[in-house]
Amino acid sequence: MHINPILSKKILAWYDNNKRKLPWRVGKKSPKKLYYRLLSEFMLQQTQVKTVIPYFNNFTKKFKTLKSLSISSEREVLKTWEGLGYYRRARNLLACSKKLVRDHGSRLPYSLEKIKKLPGIGDYTGNALLGLVYNMPTIAVDGNVKRVFSRILNKEENKINFENLIDKNKKNFFKTNRNADFVEALMEFGALVCKPKDPNCLTCCLKKTCKYFKSKNKIRSSKRKMIRKNYNVFCYINKKKQIALTKENKIGFLKNFYLPTIIEDANSFNNRNWKFLKNYQNPISNLKLNINLYYKFAKRIPQSHNWYSLEKNKEFIPSFTKKIFKQISTLFK
Ligand code: ADE
Repeated sequence: MHINPILSKKILAWYDNNKRKLPWRVGKKSPKKLYYRLLSEFMLQQTQVKTVIPYFNNFTKKFKTLKSLSISSEREVLKTWEGLGYYRRARNLLACSKKLVRDHGSRLPYSLEKIKKLPGIGDYTGNALLGLVYNMPTIAVDGNVKRVFSRILNKEENKINFENLIDKNKKNFFKTNRNADFVEALMEFGALVCKPKDPNCLTCCLKKTCKYFKSKNKIRSSKRKMIRKNYNVFCYINKKKQIALTKENKIGFLKNFYLPTIIEDANSFNNRNWKFLKNYQNPISNLKLNINLYYKFAKRIPQSHNWYSLEKNKEFIPSFTKKIFKQISTLFK
């Protein structure tokens, strides 16, 4: 899996002329570098750049430094993360900031092995941070980077051993010693030029060496798998427009958040006395949730539940539950 040695120079030249101005791209010597890179890489783990920007700006206004983040409460952090989804990232980020401040003198450890011991950091984020913060010769293999190499080789992603590819080509990849820029340039190139749909092949700086461009038999870039799920949501409501919510649920991506009773398989639930309100779709990233919403006016609610109203509530409520409030509020119009 030999990659043309010109690649790193070409991509860096393209990057110098085309990179986006993003709020986390601060100068090499900026004291904000570690905190901004850590925060943005956590946010970018499952979310696109354009969605992340306003959340990043808001978050850094509220938590100005790694230190101030590290002494904040989970509730405050979740509230600021609200709407961005995948809330485990926010919890991990907070835990990670505490560990960095307490055990590492607010500095990033120098090896992948040590970085990966921090909460929420795996190979991808670990390599990204080592490259971006310390200019180490690493590549963060995300969806963008996989697509770029897969196109250059015109070979399906799942047939490429990326570790091996990087190892075999490392001399050429890192010869410029602009490693921090190269990590980012590859991702940026994948996001802006070598896009999933309609890549800009005609104006691409790599077209002379790209097998995808030259090939009559072009590989298809892999699509994210959509996962469909049916959720039956049972809301106890009262005359004060409150809904009974519980943190005790087993819904993986919203575990320990305030939700009504949710049952995946409605056959296992006695839904007599429940009124059907609405069927709607709630897409969350690659999840397609098909929601059947039921309600019942009640005075008594299960033990683990408490009454919540949306307006008065100071707790963090995920947008999944807010949508339910919205539907329920139509009953009171
Ligand atoms: N995706 C994840 N990290 C990124 C970065 N630093 N720049 C552009 N896209 C990214």
